[in-house]
Amino acid sequence: MNQDDRPSPADPAPTSAGQAAPAPAPMVEVRNLSKSYRRGALRIPVLSDISFDIEEGEFLALMGPSGSGKSTLMNLIAGIDKPDSGTVRVAGVEITSLSETDLALWRGHHVGFVFQFYNLIPVLTALENVELPLHLTNLTRRQRREHAVLALSLVNLSHRMSHYPKQMSGGEQQRVAIARAIVTDPSLLVADEPTGDLDRVSAGEILDLMGRLNRQWGKTILMVTHDPRAAERARVLKHLDKGVLNDSGKTE
Ligand SMILES: Nc1ncnc2c1ncn2[C@@H]1O[C@H](COP(=O)(O)OP(=O)(O)O)[C@@H](O)[C@H]1O
Ligand SMILES: [Mg+2]
Repeated sequence: MNQDDRPSPADPAPTSAGQAAPAPAPMVEVRNLSKSYRRGALRIPVLSDISFDIEEGEFLALMGPSGSGKSTLMNLIAGIDKPDSGTVRVAGVEITSLSETDLALWRGHHVGFVFQFYNLIPVLTALENVELPLHLTNLTRRQRREHAVLALSLVNLSHRMSHYPKQMSGGEQQRVAIARAIVTDPSLLVADEPTGDLDRVSAGEILDLMGRLNRQWGKTILMVTHDPRAAERARVLKHLDKGVLNDSGKTE
């Protein structure tokens, strides 16, 4: 989607009644976000006054050299970490002002996170791993199972439900991790180098899957990647370097 094609407050789309419709709120609003880490007496700035939006239904790829702050930014948007200053609003909720307890609850319902090294629990089967986030919900045991079975079928792993992580390939483990990320039906999917540990074929399968989740299931996706093929599938490409975010243009 081209940025210029979207309705903006300055160029509102007319409604049937001829009135201006308000522009839809973005899925993610990042405003003046700064973060530094302390190293001894030193403060090392990582992110400096970053502001940007992610529209609902967007597929945004974030690239940048190692150490440029990509993971830090992802963790702030997913509510895993807190900024020094600035705000993050996701689907209208300002997550940067939530308490730790509320934040944990919010994460459990509204964001799915996919990591480079899958982060599956080794002593749980694929099905049990996928069910895990549902323990934070009010679903019954039977409903939890149904949702987990459905999520595994969406990533084409119905035949691996009783397998343990070590009995699966890296690509399969990442697909289980994606099923776990989508099982609560979050509106936002955040993936930090999800293909970074995979061979070319498995990486391609993961990228196909992310594309399908975006197009067919309407998931808003924010993905950190070094893979130019991944960046090609995204609709928006941004580049982070030395804590500053730049538009790298559109790939559509
Ligand atoms: N918990 C932490 N404590 C101290 N420094 C950190 C921490 N996490 C990240 N950093 C530093 O912040 C910078 C950005 O890290 P990161 O966000 O992981 O970058 P990227 O994901 O782009 O490789 C790096 O210099 C890293 O060493
Ligand atoms: Mg990183």
